[in-house]
Amino acid sequence: MQKLVISGEKKISGEISVQGAKNSALPLLAGCVLARGETVLHNCPRLSDVFASTRILTHLGFRCRREGDSVIISSDTISRSDIPEELMREMRSSIVFLGAIIGRCGKCCLSFPGGCELGPRPIDMHISALKQMGVSICEEYGVLCCEAQKGIHGAKITLSFPSVGATENIMMAAVLAKGETVIRNAAREPEICDLAEFLNACGGRVYGAGTSTITISGVNELRGCEHRVMSDRIVCATYLGAAAITGGEVNVRGARPEDIEAILSVFEEMGCCVYPYRDSIYMSCHKPLRSVKTIRTMPYPGFPTDAQSIMLAVLSKAKGTSVMVENIFESRYRQVGELVRMGCMIKTEGKVAIIEGVKKLYGARVVATDLRGGAALVLAGLSAQGETVISNIKLIDRGYESIENALSSIGADIRRVTEGF
Ligand code: UD1
Repeated sequence: MQKLVISGEKKISGEISVQGAKNSALPLLAGCVLARGETVLHNCPRLSDVFASTRILTHLGFRCRREGDSVIISSDTISRSDIPEELMREMRSSIVFLGAIIGRCGKCCLSFPGGCELGPRPIDMHISALKQMGVSICEEYGVLCCEAQKGIHGAKITLSFPSVGATENIMMAAVLAKGETVIRNAAREPEICDLAEFLNACGGRVYGAGTSTITISGVNELRGCEHRVMSDRIVCATYLGAAAITGGEVNVRGARPEDIEAILSVFEEMGCCVYPYRDSIYMSCHKPLRSVKTIRTMPYPGFPTDAQSIMLAVLSKAKGTSVMVENIFESRYRQVGELVRMGCMIKTEGKVAIIEGVKKLYGARVVATDLRGGAALVLAGLSAQGETVISNIKLIDRGYESIENALSSIGADIRRVTEGF
C-alpha cells in the first residue's frame, strides 16, 4: 500500500506548471466516442481516472495510445454499446459516456453509477433530459438500458440545477441528434466551454457554452480533431494553497486566472498578494493569514465545491474565525475528522463548517477520504510540525499527477513510500 510522507514546516517557493484538467479530460475522452477517425488530446493528464476512461474506450472497440502528454484515439468503428459494471465502478463520472454512446449508437447499457465518497449522486436530471430527447430508459437490478428506437431528437430542456454532468451528457447526446436542443439553466463551468470547443472542432454546432443557455444544432457526423485539454483550476488552487499555508510564494504557469476568480479573491482577503497574468498566477503570502467572511460553495462562477476542503486546511492557519457553507454536495466534510487530528479547529453542522484559526498544526497518521479532502491533508501536512503520513492515496492519484514530485519541485519535503508488502 502506498502512502505519502511529509516532513512539514518547509516554505513553498518556486515555479510550477499546472497539469491538464481531470474534469475536462474525462468528458473529452467520452466525447471521442462521437467522432469518427483519429482524435488527439494534448495535455491529457496521467491520472487513474484517465486510464479508466481509456479502458472504457478500448472496451468499446477503439484504439487508444499515449505519446508524451497526448492521448490518441482511433474510433472508426464502435463494436459495442455497453459498459460493464467493473468499469463503471472504477469511476463515477463514467456516466458521461451515456450521452456519447447513445449519441453514436442510439442505444447504451450501463450499470447505475450509485453513490460515492461525496454521498449520493443521483442522475435523475440526466435521465429526464434523455427521455425528452426520445430515449426510452429502463432500469432493472442496477442496470440502465437506454434506446432511441426512432433516433434522438432535439428538445428544450430546463435543468432544475445547473448540473455539470447533466449539461455535458445532454450536449453529447444532442450534437448528432435530429434538430435543435436548447439547455436552459445549463452549467457554466470552464470545462463545459472546453467540451463545446472540442465538439465544434470535430464539426459540431454548439453555441452559448459558458452562459446559462446552450443551443446545439444536430449535425450528421463528427470527425476527429486535435484539442488541448484546458489546465486544471483545482490543481492550480492547490499549489496556491500550498504557498498560503506555508507562508511562501509560488508562480503557477499555465494557469488561467479568469477560471478561479472566486478562489483568488479569498486568498486576497486572507492577505496574500495575488498577481494574475495572462497564463500564469504569482502569489506571495509572507504576512500572517487572516480569516475570511463566509464562503459559500456555488456553481461556477461561484466558489467551487472542489476547492472547499483545500480552503478549510488553509483557513485553519488564518487568524480568527471563518465560516464555510457547502451547498453542492451532502457529505463533503468527511475529511474534517482527520484535519482535526492534525490540530485544525473545525466544527461542522449540516452544510456549515466553522474554522477557528490555530497557530500550529501537528503531523499525524491520517487517511484520505476523498480526492480533494486528501489534497487538504497534504496541505495541512506541509505546514505541520513533524511528520505526516497519509494513507489511501489512490484517491489523491485520481486527480493529481504525481503530487509528491510537483510539490517537491517547489520546496516541500514529501515522498511516496510503499508499505505493507
Ligand atoms: C462535477 C465534477 C465534480 C464537481 C461537481 C460540481 C466532473 C468529473 N466532476 O461533478 O468534481 O465537484 O461537478 O462542480 O466533472 N445532481 C442531482 N441530479 C442529477 C445530477 C446532479 O441531484 O441528475 C446533484 C448532485 O447530487 C450534486 C449537484 O447536483 O448535489 C451537482 O452535481 P453535478 O454538477 O452534476 O456534479 P458532477 O457532474 O457529478
